[in-house]
Amino acid sequence: MKRYADTTAIVTGAAHGIGRAIARRLAAEGANVAVLDIDGDGADETARILRKDGNRAQAFRTDITDFPALEGTFAEIEANLGPVGLLVNNAAYTDAGALEGMGLDAWHREVDVNLNGTYHCLRAILPRMKERMDGAVVNIASVNGVRYFGNPSYSAAKAGIINLTQSVASEYGKYGIRCNAVLPGSVRTDNVTWTIRQQKDPDIFKKLGRWYALGRVAEPDDIAKAVSFLGSDDAGYITGVALPVDGGLLAGMNVMIGEFVLESDKE
Ligand SMILES: NC(=O)c1ccc[n+]([C@@H]2O[C@H](COP(=O)([O-])OP(=O)(O)OC[C@H]3O[C@@H](n4cnc5c(N)ncnc54)[C@H](O)[C@@H]3O)[C@@H](O)[C@H]2O)c1
Repeated sequence: MKRYADTTAIVTGAAHGIGRAIARRLAAEGANVAVLDIDGDGADETARILRKDGNRAQAFRTDITDFPALEGTFAEIEANLGPVGLLVNNAAYTDAGALEGMGLDAWHREVDVNLNGTYHCLRAILPRMKERMDGAVVNIASVNGVRYFGNPSYSAAKAGIINLTQSVASEYGKYGIRCNAVLPGSVRTDNVTWTIRQQKDPDIFKKLGRWYALGRVAEPDDIAKAVSFLGSDDAGYITGVALPVDGGLLAGMNVMIGEFVLESDKE
């Protein structure tokens, strides 16, 4: 039996990239998927792909920064697709590279979409899951939430998401609700940041591979597999964790170590 049979899952930001890969994987494992995104056309396209593969899916155009609209959407999702057993908070936005010179608007916007938006989704789903004494949440954070890799407002928001994950896990465990976070490193997607970087250097993903113990950046499905595990009963005793899915990026500094070796070669 498929591990998400009879489960309805919401995936936010599922119009593109990692969110679409998560939606596809959950659907392949039996879930009914609510594809939620501010980009209605992209969400429709994802839902079409899922249905073409023989799964049950529906697109919902919603802005996660708008709490009243989001609450209405979650009610509609449960009416159409059934009680939600899994929420994946994946929607995100960043285009502000450095702290110095950052506009105030950019700071507010990135904290609003990434942290407040995630909180809104939790606020909308937790009472529903509590009533049923069952549910799982997977928040997509980032390695940026634990180290500096640029994009400071986004990173501060991701650090907040990791902490929020612990709050939910601690407070809602008694209601049978689990909450975990996944921390991707670089993932090959065409989001705003990677598009700009790729325009500057078409080989960027290949070059970045040397920073990773596994020698490559992630593909979206690498992240989707981890999400699918953490959201399922196979992870039934796991809650409150922040799992790096980063090919070993946070484990060590291979490029720096390479420089030590060069120094010792000189002796
Ligand atoms: N790509 C990477 O290298 C990488 C690395 C670490 C973490 N992540 C995280 O993975 C997740 C997916 O990233 P991606 O690269 O697929 O990004 P993406 O930009 O392709 O997808 C994000 C989606 O969120 C949607 N979205 C943005 N604002 C929204 C809003 N207000 N309401 C509803 N939807 C909104 C966008 O329309 C988009 O479809 C994000 O949480 C991101 O922070 C990505």
